[in-house]
Amino acid sequence: MSELLVYRNGELVPDSQAAISIHDGGFLLGDSVYEAVRTFRFVPFHLEPHLDRLWRSLTYARIDPGMRRQDLHEAVMLTLEANRPLLEDDVWLYIYITRGRFVNNVQYYLPATAEERRPTVIIFCRPLPFAAFARGYEHGVHAVIPPSRHLPPQCLDPKLKTGSRMHLVLAEFEARMVDPEAWSLILDIHGNLTENKSGNVFLVKDGALYTPAADGILAGITRATVLELAGRLGIPAYERTLQAYHALTADEAFFTSTGYCIMPITRINKVVIGDGRPGLITRRLLKAWGETVGVDLMEQARRHLR
Ligand code: PDD
Repeated sequence: MSELLVYRNGELVPDSQAAISIHDGGFLLGDSVYEAVRTFRFVPFHLEPHLDRLWRSLTYARIDPGMRRQDLHEAVMLTLEANRPLLEDDVWLYIYITRGRFVNNVQYYLPATAEERRPTVIIFCRPLPFAAFARGYEHGVHAVIPPSRHLPPQCLDPKLKTGSRMHLVLAEFEARMVDPEAWSLILDIHGNLTENKSGNVFLVKDGALYTPAADGILAGITRATVLELAGRLGIPAYERTLQAYHALTADEAFFTSTGYCIMPITRINKVVIGDGRPGLITRRLLKAWGETVGVDLMEQARRHLR
């Protein structure tokens, strides 16, 4: 075996053969929900909260996965175990579920008939981009506020973890037009900070953490873990309405997401944050995270630098 294996509707197939139908609504319409989990020492981290969130997404999107939660849990473990001999370090585990086939009704797509329809369940693992993480942990990243705004919860609710991500992709491209290395930091339609394409944001001011409330964003599992860690370390943390003003005048800032956990931000719209290096509280949280999972995040990432 030299190729990673992908779980596709109950079978494990080599990555290069893990195709799905062009009639699948996940491809045609972005009609899918998903989760991205990561491992620490090859064990999925916080799998249960990820599956909880996936189940909420399925419920909200009215997608029937055609399997029980316990079966999906087992499928994730099976996929990881089957790939384990090929894995050199911790990985992403992605779970995608689509509503399945659609038929073209001349003017628009309709879900296929019940007999033809079957949800598509895909689980795959991918190496984590550790070298990029290492550079980010060391120097911090540049966040740029793009002109595109986040969707309000009255439209496609950002609490839903869906594969319909064109607005997030465009925001990311807009940020990269300013700086090819930039990460987007997206505002809502009122000008308040929200999140980025795949992470939440925290600011540090006068020793306290501030993060947008979880109503117009994806309630990140990493975000919740950071709030928990802050509690343990005695760092005050507040969920607040925040604007670009707060970001540009923060002492420190960072993104949170499953892959990198905590990513320092050292410039926002080209304005240097703090002294331009990853801040003290950010580094304390990164260290505390590592101690919790038994993996030194920065050391693990650095090993992948050439
Ligand atoms: N993204 N905000 C958005 C829009 C996200 O897509 C994600 C996760 C987060 C952070 O959530 P968590 O801490 O639970 O990973 C915030 C994953 C990593 C992805 O799409 O690959």
